[in-house]
Amino acid sequence: MKLILFGPPGAGKGTQAKLLTKCFKLPHISTGDILRNEVKNNTDLGRQAKGFMDSGKLVPDTLVTEMVKKRMAAKDLEKGFILDGYPRTVSQARSLDEILETGIDTAVYLSTSEKVVVQRLTGRRVCSKCGTNYHLVNMPPKKDMLCDQCQVPLYQRPDDNEATVRNRLKVYLEESSGVLDYYRKQNKLENVSGDLDSEEVCKIISKNIFGSLK
Ligand code: AP5
Ligand code: MG
Repeated sequence: MKLILFGPPGAGKGTQAKLLTKCFKLPHISTGDILRNEVKNNTDLGRQAKGFMDSGKLVPDTLVTEMVKKRMAAKDLEKGFILDGYPRTVSQARSLDEILETGIDTAVYLSTSEKVVVQRLTGRRVCSKCGTNYHLVNMPPKKDMLCDQCQVPLYQRPDDNEATVRNRLKVYLEESSGVLDYYRKQNKLENVSGDLDSEEVCKIISKNIFGSLK
């Protein structure tokens, strides 16, 4: 199963990828997570990407596609993968088809509204160790801003302030909408409401997309 989770910032791509990975044991590849790791380790790529990420812009296609190409060459992807955050432009979608040769199976479009996105992202907090997403109101940790599993402090992503969130949404509408048409034309697009409760969203994807694998 070569699955893409597509949608605006805050639609729940990372949350769904983590839930689906638990059920179906497929590797979760998040270009945002890989890039944040490069920034944290102060690599060449991280230094080139940081300014774009902090201001909510897309990192240039050539840099991201080279990074995805490397990840796709790894040996753990025989049974497939859940790709979160790539492709984000039509040029990236074309590159992915070239890298995979046979293309993807399905792109799940998690749709949601601007109001929901801003509420979710400004309230998001992330575990600095395992990367689990929490939300101050929707999914608070059990105790004192600590991860329920790791007991380490949660942090706020630097691009989760309101001004940058609104810019990320603008960039998404300007640069990523074409990806929907790209997969619609290939008959590979599955629309799921990202506004539902996250367990409900996961159930729908599991039934509609993974049904035959269960
Ligand atoms: P990336 O990390 O991919 O960020 P994003 O696309 O903006 O998406 P988010 O991670 O913010 O949201 P999400 O949809 O994963 O939602 P989540 O599940 O966390 O990319 C960051 C940056 O890296 C980009 O801006 C760009 O600069 C660069 N980049 C990455 N990929 C690139 C590419 N291909 N090309 C170029 N540049 C690239 O949920 C959000 C919050 O809502 C959480 O608090 C969660 O707990 C809560 N929540 C989730 N689901 C629900 C629900 N159903 N109900 C209630 N609350 C929910
Ligand atoms: Mg994410």
